[in-house]
Amino acid sequence: MDIRVLQPSDIPHVQLANITNLPENYFLKYYLYHALSWPQLSYVAVDLSYADNHPGEPPKIVGYVLAKMEEEPTDGVQHGHITSLSVMRTHRRLGLAEKLMRQSQKAMVEAFGAKYVSLHVRVSNKAALHLYRDTLQFEVDKVEEKYYADGENAYSMRKDLTFLE
Ligand code: ACO
Repeated sequence: MDIRVLQPSDIPHVQLANITNLPENYFLKYYLYHALSWPQLSYVAVDLSYADNHPGEPPKIVGYVLAKMEEEPTDGVQHGHITSLSVMRTHRRLGLAEKLMRQSQKAMVEAFGAKYVSLHVRVSNKAALHLYRDTLQFEVDKVEEKYYADGENAYSMRKDLTFLE
């Protein structure tokens, strides 16, 4: 498995992974906006063995993290934001999400001087909460009531990144 920076040509495959794994979906231009504005921050996990066995076919993207910098931070502090993260069912519990997240966090600090990273997650999403809270040491900042279109609440989480400076 290879973790590398998202390229614009990956976007249709990332969009497919997003639609397969999450109810929060985005227009193509929103992915492009991320890739062109903050090209260092979004990553994909590519199944290299698939490429070996299927020469000439597009890369098999099995996970992604789509990330950005907050453009007008209300607190005036430079920080990154995780827009979306997912890993295909066939490739879960292999540490891919953790690796994607750590790569993005490092790039937020190195390329943009981010002081912290934020994200939203459904309060019912046990797998993601385990990853964020227990593995990556995010903390719950607040609960945002009815954040999602179906009325579910979100945890607004954040993680200090100054230890990476
Ligand atoms: N239940 C409990 N713990 C879990 C689960 C689970 N189902 N899945 C992963 N974990 C734990 C792992 O055990 C590991 O913990 P450890 O450090 O103690 O070993 C940790 O989470 C990281 O595991 P990874 O293997 O890196 O996670 P994975 O690659 O399987 O991806 C993810 C986790 C992204 C949540 C995946 O389950 C997924 O794609 N889910 C559907 C989409 C989703 O919910 N995305 C997040 C939405 S929030 C947002 O996008 C900002």
